[in-house]
Amino acid sequence: MIESRKRLLYLSQADVENVNLSMKEIITQLEIAFAEKAQSQVEMPPKPGIHPGNGDNFIHAMPAYIPAMKSAGVKWVSGFPLNTKKGLPYISGLLILNDPETGIPISVMDCVWITAKRTGAATAIAAKHLARPESSVVGVLGCGVQGRSNIEALSVVFNLKKVMAYDIEPDVSERYAIDIHNQYRIEVEPVEKPKNAVSGCDIIVTAGPILKKPHATIKAGWMDEGAFASLVDFDSYWHADAMKEVSKFCTDDIPQLKHYQEIGYFKEIPPVYADLGELVAGLKVGRENSKERDMACNLGLAMDDMAVAPLIYQRAVEKGIGTFLPL
Ligand SMILES: NC(=O)c1ccc[n+]([C@@H]2O[C@H](COP(=O)([O-])OP(=O)(O)OC[C@H]3O[C@@H](n4cnc5c(N)ncnc54)[C@H](O)[C@@H]3O)[C@@H](O)[C@H]2O)c1
Repeated sequence: MIESRKRLLYLSQADVENVNLSMKEIITQLEIAFAEKAQSQVEMPPKPGIHPGNGDNFIHAMPAYIPAMKSAGVKWVSGFPLNTKKGLPYISGLLILNDPETGIPISVMDCVWITAKRTGAATAIAAKHLARPESSVVGVLGCGVQGRSNIEALSVVFNLKKVMAYDIEPDVSERYAIDIHNQYRIEVEPVEKPKNAVSGCDIIVTAGPILKKPHATIKAGWMDEGAFASLVDFDSYWHADAMKEVSKFCTDDIPQLKHYQEIGYFKEIPPVYADLGELVAGLKVGRENSKERDMACNLGLAMDDMAVAPLIYQRAVEKGIGTFLPL
């Protein structure tokens, strides 16, 4: 990908959306990247971050290099939980894509769309290995951006029949129910109690705010035998005793999990059985029977972003989307 011209392609949020990459393509890109990671073919230092304002705000730098995809770059992404009260997005940021042969930046793009989609894709990949294949009922706790993209991705892999939707703001889950039904033709039941989006579900996705001190709403005994849970918001939703009930606790990257533990997160999680790369590459087996409760806590990797960004860039160039800016 040698780009000798002294210009970069700027892609706004709308430009990235207009490229219209499908969820199926995103899942495929991530599976390739996770297989590369399993062979130690990805360079990805744990994310350094700063924490302006209250303790749950973050801005992270997320660099990664995936040689097989000729992809190198960094995402600079923020998560400010109280933004939603100001009518601003929780997650925002930019991604810089570099030419791995010269190091020269070739594109700067908004990263909100990529973050939403690749996180859903990572849930779907984990679920492919850890959920029962016939899973059809999903509980979603936190009906925001991730609540939507996780259903989009899961519907690529599973024949979903019903979503039990809980949000702390009832009008949000009501709106979510209408939107998801219209988009995917899946029945959605907004529920008033978090437990109703856990018990009776084959797959559970928790996607509320990430908190250093978990609110631990989900208690032992709520998760059904044979269910799978994706902890998009880390362990914020789960009581330690509920997590102890799982047979296999997985994550997307163990060094990054340890890094988070060093700065005060994940104080009471079970031992990690495998990382997602090991599951994708077949180095460790996923679900082994229909009874085990399994869990994946994907932290969100720079590699996920860098697996998707080059495809966005290439398609944008092909379709004439975006604005070239001088370097
Ligand atoms: N692991 C990853 O890779 C990854 C990537 C992106 C975002 N995230 C995290 O996912 C979470 C959701 O992000 P988003 O972009 O969808 O945010 P969002 O603001 O769009 O949605 C969050 C929703 O959760 C609701 N909510 C707040 N507290 C709740 C509670 N206790 N129970 C149920 N619902 C509650 C809010 O009303 C809102 O509708 C955040 O914690 C974010 O940091 C994780």
